[in-house]
Amino acid sequence: MNREDFPILSNSNLIYFDNGATTLKPKCVVDIVNDYNTKFTANAHRGDYKNSLTVDTLYDNTRDKIKDFINAKERSEIVFTSGTTEGMNMIIFGYFANVLKKDDEVLITESEHASNVLPWFVLQERIGIKVKYIELSNNEVVMDNVVKAINDKTKVISLAHITNVIGDVRDIKAISKVCHENNILIVVDAAQSVAHKKINVVDMDIDFMAFSGHKLYGPTGIGVLYGKFDLLKDLVPRDYGGGMNAVFNKDGYVELKDLPDKLEAGTPNIEGVIGLCASIKYLNSIGIDKISDYEHSLRAYLIERLEELDFVTVYNKGNVDSSIVAFNIKGVFSQDTAIYLDKYNICVRAGNHCAKILKNVFNVANTCRISLSFYNTKEEIDLLINVLKNSKNIWEEIL
Ligand code: ALA
Repeated sequence: MNREDFPILSNSNLIYFDNGATTLKPKCVVDIVNDYNTKFTANAHRGDYKNSLTVDTLYDNTRDKIKDFINAKERSEIVFTSGTTEGMNMIIFGYFANVLKKDDEVLITESEHASNVLPWFVLQERIGIKVKYIELSNNEVVMDNVVKAINDKTKVISLAHITNVIGDVRDIKAISKVCHENNILIVVDAAQSVAHKKINVVDMDIDFMAFSGHKLYGPTGIGVLYGKFDLLKDLVPRDYGGGMNAVFNKDGYVELKDLPDKLEAGTPNIEGVIGLCASIKYLNSIGIDKISDYEHSLRAYLIERLEELDFVTVYNKGNVDSSIVAFNIKGVFSQDTAIYLDKYNICVRAGNHCAKILKNVFNVANTCRISLSFYNTKEEIDLLINVLKNSKNIWEEIL
């Protein structure tokens, strides 16, 4: 649906199945970014002329839009970042590095993305926390295993809402309930979920969360860090400079601004912020629930069609609530399959997808990943199936 809103789809015969890596951009996003660069360029919160005030208004409106989009209580709980990775790093190094002590435990899973693993490993090395894993059951997080993994040293559970390789959806509301009953904080990597599923940070009782704009049909280089006000106020800035200080003098006296400004030093990614506002308005106009329903039915169709192919292994048939399908052509390296599909203008991602521990769970290090969006169609899936059916001479075609 809504294919006509995406310029790249009207100008080519592209079949874009790599929405987990980044999404295509609707015209409204392209136009507002272009208008900012060609009609009203100015810095934000630094000028008193007309274009500057236009930018200030658009910039500030975006924060309100995001607050409403994820149902945060206050606009000061929304911090602009460069993306999920920066958000996760700010949460882990700006907050948890200052509150965790030696032997405190952090629970993650083996299917987390690198940005929810590596910063914790650094704290493990630096302050002696222990990174532990919630055991997966059929590649999924089940509540019994969450409860089993918790002990009196557990201080944080840090999980993707939807994982990027197998697309399993975690019951964040149930997990956060268990967390808070045990004085544990919950961190959510929402990179793969925010464009596909309604997120309500109050109802889900999320403490910290990060996501990217570019997976939400917005520009690259912009993302969001959400934190409950009482926690976020103690997140120590990584960057110091303009825009985040209220006062400083030559003796070294410094007063920082309030949230969120104190966490946004320097000139921000203004075109990214404005573009993100347009993408959220656009998604709201379609409706996230409608998007979820459509993508789930499209995924069911994709699974049904892939099941016709006895030479294809699908690794995550059961993850019906996501838009992600991980597969391989039997005996073919995933990247070779991706190169073959590209010959037919079909874009998929191949490899370990930045979740390098997952191979222990899957028993396979590399997969092809199809990650669907609402602009994908059954016709595109039929074309994919035909191309896969004709893959017997894959080696001749790609060499
Ligand atoms: N993390 C992104 C993905 O899963 C890039 O493809």
